Amino acid sequence: MVFHLSEAVNMAKSMVIRAGGLLKHAASREIACNYKNHDHRDLLTEFDERVQSLVIAELKKNYPDHKFISEEKHNNGDLTGYVWILDPIDGTTNFVCFKKNFSISLALYKDGKPVFGIVYDAVNDDLYQGISGEGAYLNNKRINNLTRIPLKNCIINISLNSIEELYNKYRIKIFNLAKDVRGHRYFGAASLELCKIATGELNIYISTNLKSWDFAAAGIILNEVGGYYGGIDHMKLDLTGKPTALVACSSKELYHVVLEKVFQQPSLYKGTRE
Ligand code: IPD
Ligand code: CA
Ligand code: CA
Repeated sequence: MVFHLSEAVNMAKSMVIRAGGLLKHAASREIACNYKNHDHRDLLTEFDERVQSLVIAELKKNYPDHKFISEEKHNNGDLTGYVWILDPIDGTTNFVCFKKNFSISLALYKDGKPVFGIVYDAVNDDLYQGISGEGAYLNNKRINNLTRIPLKNCIINISLNSIEELYNKYRIKIFNLAKDVRGHRYFGAASLELCKIATGELNIYISTNLKSWDFAAAGIILNEVGGYYGGIDHMKLDLTGKPTALVACSSKELYHVVLEKVFQQPSLYKGTRE
């Protein structure tokens, strides 16, 4: 079947909106959950699996030769050809506990390169979209390019789990950064946190333990407005679903400032600084 980008984007959008309706309806009542791998911090509901099945089944009807990487299924790591990367619910804890601040995150990559990404915040009916090379939109309104801001004006976003892991694994006292930035906020859904950098509400996001479905779509949106993300050691991030540590910032310059300051990584930045 011939691939048409605009058709695929429209289909993906209508799919996530449909699946989002299911989540919005579910969020109007009590949501039962189980623990994944006996970890009380890793929740799973029937809706994670239902959204995954719904989205993959619909996309498969139209794109039978495309592949899928998704959180609640076994993934074989094959990135060749067209590969959809899905997080059926990003922010399951928020979905269960607060009934808001969760998203459906869906991206399409071709041979490991980004094609487009969609993040849908169903409760607020906010649809973020980024098409590689064609800009990013929130509810069909173009998101402005980000302007550079100094570290002292930044709002940083990081979870308690990441603060703990940075210290235990790397002996990094990230809390020392508290005095260098304007403030700290945490929402609990990586895809939305990256979208908030794209819209200028946040400026720095650090996580020690993300998988590709957490950032594959929002990363495209962020890059399209001049933001930047990568590993804590300048490495390219894994897309197949292996755990990865990520730093995302509102500019490439800020990313390198954070890497130098926090991770003591020598700068590879060749651009100009303010
Ligand atoms: C989680 C959320 C959370 C992040 C975790 C992710 P999930 O995704 O994005 O903000 O800190 O690392 O696993 O499990 O709700 O899909
Ligand atoms: Ca997730
Ligand atoms: Ca999830």
